[in-house]
Amino acid sequence: DTTGKVIKCKAAVAWEVGKPLSIEEVEVYPPKANEVRIKMVATGICRTDDHVLKGALQSIDFPVILGHEGSGIIESIGKEVTGLKPGDKVIPLCIPQCGKCSSCLNPKTNCCLKTHLSESQNLMPDKTSRFVCKEKVVHHFLWTSTFSEYTVVPYDAVAKIDDQAPMDKACLFGCGFPTGYGAVINTAKVESGSCCAVFGLGGIGLSAVIGCKAAGAARIIAIDINNDKFEKAKTFGATECINPLDYSKPIQEVITEMTNGGVHYSFECIGNTETMKAALECCHMGYGTSIIIGEAPSTAQISFNPLMLFTGRTWKGSIFGGWKSKEAVPRLVADFMANKFNLDGLVSHMLPFNQINEGFELLRSGKSIRTILMY
Ligand code: APR
Ligand code: ZN
Ligand code: ZN
Repeated sequence: DTTGKVIKCKAAVAWEVGKPLSIEEVEVYPPKANEVRIKMVATGICRTDDHVLKGALQSIDFPVILGHEGSGIIESIGKEVTGLKPGDKVIPLCIPQCGKCSSCLNPKTNCCLKTHLSESQNLMPDKTSRFVCKEKVVHHFLWTSTFSEYTVVPYDAVAKIDDQAPMDKACLFGCGFPTGYGAVINTAKVESGSCCAVFGLGGIGLSAVIGCKAAGAARIIAIDINNDKFEKAKTFGATECINPLDYSKPIQEVITEMTNGGVHYSFECIGNTETMKAALECCHMGYGTSIIIGEAPSTAQISFNPLMLFTGRTWKGSIFGGWKSKEAVPRLVADFMANKFNLDGLVSHMLPFNQINEGFELLRSGKSIRTILMY
């Protein structure tokens, strides 16, 4: 029994920006009050993890254990934790739901004030770390740090899921799928018959395509600079696939012409300020709405013509698909188990955890949608 003891296990440590991850033996300290320690089963690799490794998110402290799309089993619980016990299947939540802050109490948002966007999550809430490697303190990431055989997360950042949930796929409910799908269903509230454009066809963009299809969109225009992404986008419901590199005109003009004045809804799933602007500009005057889902570098700025908004377009952002995470993730997993969504196409590669750097290479080379690492 490891309860109350330090666990030595393998983790992928990011020592500094620009360096490959190194698999190290780390010490994982027991959970304190209102925390749980989780034995990870599977984790996906998301572009946001790669953004951190590239140094694009300046609020992250190194050394750090990244990873925020995982599934696991509770090993032990800290004091004051209720409703969770060792053996429960869980998903760490990169957007927590504390249930008490003004956002959690407001039905219009899921942006809990305990997210990394309002307060650093590089340490546990008591401002200490549960990870030590080579006698150095290693930071947490988004309170999830799923690139470790064991991780510790605060109670507000973990959702219990069904005991029968398939853990290899369940990890997708930690980020990619709810983020893209929810942006369509919750943030845009796409109506049946709408015309939609999805910019970027990675795990997030394809999940947005799944959402558009589920919402009954009449046209789903999928945009990517990598033609290899189109086949899969079509299987998920894209009706047209276009590559901006095939046109001399800006892609927003191409889309505006294709759609007689613009789309009802556009989704930016890349994290690039140019495509954010293009996604806004391809929306129809008067009623088009554009949703930013991709995460831009923390210092990025956009300049745009305010007439775009003055003439009735709406620009919104969506984080974790607008889902209030702790209550929604178990429901989404239950819907998945009831065959409401087929996510098979989102998982392009499965690798053992120790091949994590190969997983990142697959992402950078554009060859993967989601690589799932199994512990
Ligand atoms: N125009 C069109 N498509 C582009 C462009 C561009 N200028 N630049 C990149 N893309 C495409 C890539 O070819 C890729 O298919 O966007 C897709 C992005 O997919 P991934 O890199 O797999 O990223 P994903 O994990 O889906 O995340 C997308 O959401 O959460 C954020 O940080 C994350 O910003 C990232 C975004
Ligand atoms: Zn992510
Ligand atoms: Zn909250």
